[in-house]
Amino acid sequence: MELRNYCDGDEQAVVDLWRRCDLLRNPLNDPRQDIAFCRTGGHGEILILEDGGKIVATAMVGQDGHRGWIYYVAVDPDRQGEDLGRRIMAAAEERLQADGVPKVHLMVRGSNTEVIGFYQRLGYMVEPTNTMSRRLDGKPLPVGHQMDDEPVIVTYLEMLERGSLPHIVPKARRHALIGAHDITLGFYRYLYDAVGRPWYWTDRKKLSDGELAAIIQDDAVEVYVLYVGGVPAGFYELDFRPMTDAVPTAELAYFGIMPEFIGMGLGPYLLGQALDMLWHREPGRVLVNTCTLDHPKALPLYQRFGFRPYDRKEVPAPWQDPDNVLDFA
Ligand SMILES: CC(C)(COP(=O)(O)OP(=O)(O)OC[C@H]1O[C@@H](n2cnc3c(N)ncnc32)[C@H](O)[C@@H]1OP(=O)(O)O)[C@@H](O)C(=O)NCCC(=O)NCCS
Repeated sequence: MELRNYCDGDEQAVVDLWRRCDLLRNPLNDPRQDIAFCRTGGHGEILILEDGGKIVATAMVGQDGHRGWIYYVAVDPDRQGEDLGRRIMAAAEERLQADGVPKVHLMVRGSNTEVIGFYQRLGYMVEPTNTMSRRLDGKPLPVGHQMDDEPVIVTYLEMLERGSLPHIVPKARRHALIGAHDITLGFYRYLYDAVGRPWYWTDRKKLSDGELAAIIQDDAVEVYVLYVGGVPAGFYELDFRPMTDAVPTAELAYFGIMPEFIGMGLGPYLLGQALDMLWHREPGRVLVNTCTLDHPKALPLYQRFGFRPYDRKEVPAPWQDPDNVLDFA
């Protein structure tokens, strides 16, 4: 059994090991990029245990100038329970000690709790701290209430009577809400992407131009665009097609503010306007749905305006759906 540093040519075997150990669930973490960054960044290294020419265990170890960190701890599933996890962890700790690092941290994915016992066996404690993060590479990330490997929960909400809607005056002064009555596909696709990209809106992206036109250019579907200072800042889409149902139904199909305009109090104003328009047609009920990928304030906002949940469904996250060909990077 040999302990060595990662060398050129190890990439495929290491990535395969991490995949077999189920460490590559988050599609935003590209293992090849992680390896390259670790090797060129000058702050860490990847340790390898090799047996009979085969890589059987890895650990990425490094320090940030304050604490040591260990990532990508993996033991070949066929070789687990043979003390290899303990050996690779001991090797990683020795490297940190040699650099004078006084304390080591590591993170365990929320859904991988069974591995906590392993680290406890090696003397690690669960810290009473919350880890927070923010992406600096511009990749979209759900706002912390959607675990990478858990299904997305869609909550379906309804409102059966108009009630008294709060009257909200927008904080932005130079704003205008304009119906896009003859909306073009290009403009719609722009709105949908600009509002929905951080929240992984994908449904409409999967539609061909013909399929999309059949929906958004239907007379019973209406799109309204919020402009602030002359540029689009958000939109909503009202679907009156189910008004012919036994219970005439109107749906708030899409609703959102573009990232640059979030936090200006425009959401409640825009929702109030949308609900006014929906109830103006006197439906028997108004529907909306939201999911755990949406902004965490979406669900409480809908409830504040009088929507009540009536159903929930679990669906795969877009990155868990093998048929999804869309690029989330
Ligand atoms: C976690 C992992 C690295 C452990 O490696 P391993 O080689 O099987 O573990 P070892 O044989 O070195 O075990 C060391 C000790 O931990 C204990 N242990 C191992 N896995 C354990 C678990 N899931 N729960 C509790 N104890 C565990 C062993 O019983 C042993 O205890 P002992 O001192 O009483 O003999 C390995 O299971 C793995 O690669 N898992 C998948 C990848 C992963 O989840 N990595 C962690 C990412 S944070």
